[in-house]
Amino acid sequence: MSEKEIDDISGVETTGHEWDGIKELNNPLPRWWINTFYITILWAIGYMILYPAWPLVSDYTRGYLGYSSRAELSQSMSEAQVGQAVYLDQIRDASLDEILASNELRQFAMAGGRSAFLVNCSTCHGSGAQGAPGYPNLNDDDWIWGGTLDDIYLTIRHGVRFTDDWDTRDSAMPAFGRDGILGRGEIVEIAAFVRSMAGLDIDPALAARGAEGFADNCAACHGESGEGLRDLGAPALADAIWFYSSDADAIAAQISNPKHGVMPAWGARLDDGIIKQLTVYIHSLGGGE
Ligand code: HEC
Ligand code: HEC
Repeated sequence: MSEKEIDDISGVETTGHEWDGIKELNNPLPRWWINTFYITILWAIGYMILYPAWPLVSDYTRGYLGYSSRAELSQSMSEAQVGQAVYLDQIRDASLDEILASNELRQFAMAGGRSAFLVNCSTCHGSGAQGAPGYPNLNDDDWIWGGTLDDIYLTIRHGVRFTDDWDTRDSAMPAFGRDGILGRGEIVEIAAFVRSMAGLDIDPALAARGAEGFADNCAACHGESGEGLRDLGAPALADAIWFYSSDADAIAAQISNPKHGVMPAWGARLDDGIIKQLTVYIHSLGGGE
């Protein structure tokens, strides 16, 4: 390699590297670039002195400022908790109607109720409270136990058929088939009548034969025309909304050997302020009365 070669065209010294006749010029880096580079080095040294930087065997360098993202998080969390506690106290002291009447409290209750719902209730009722067979939809105005603020509050607090709570909502549909109250034929006829009340396709003659059986055995709980009875948690049968299923066999099975839904009581598990927030949230979903 030669000592110093000057490129003819640009007059710049070359590095001596050459590929296929193309030579590399030895242009210096721009000044601004070099200065930026030095600044980043200074910045890094400053950072290492001020902030946690180097891992050690069982610890790390803490930095002159003693900063820690964990401390910062717990600081901002405790600030948020203090902010929330103010509202939560007010919600505990207020009646459900008062919460609805106050814009501020209602908004706080809606947000808190929604997140408490996602944590505690969505496993059964679905994340949008849309329900599933055996788990009621909470968005509609078809209530098994009632849709006023007080009804909803009571259901959440004490649950349904939840044996650990004395005040739980309770009722049972008789097992007409299993206990021999009705024969197989009668059950099929009554099931057909139930479907006809709901306007579903069914053999009219079969349904007509079930009318009397329904009046005698079912109307006391489900109502003369299948409108349901909330005091007993007996669902409406004449509407298009089914708790279990509208299928003729499923209805016959329910008459024969009924299923009974169980909903946990939340009074012992959740703070009363949270239960009130949940009540306001569910009441707002579309079916509140
Ligand atoms: C003592 C009250 C009582 C009587 C009598 C009764 N039921 Fe029920 N029925 C209930 C209750 C309570 C439920 C809801 C069960 C639950 O929540 O899991 C229910 C649920 C049902 C369901 C399910 C509704 C749905 O939406 O899926 C059907 C169908 C039904 N009953 C039909 C009948 C028929 C038909 C008779 C008469 C042969 C009858 N029931 C008699 C209380 C009663
Ligand atoms: C383990 C499953 C489960 C969980 C968790 C659950 N529920 Fe329920 N919930 C049910 C069942 C089942 C019923 C229907 C009970 C019946 O047969 O009447 C019900 C009924 C209800 C009703 C009454 C609906 C009506 O039509 O009257 C409300 C309101 C309700 N749940 C709210 C909640 C809230 C709020 C939570 C969370 C704090 C919750 N549920 C958590 C299973 C559950």
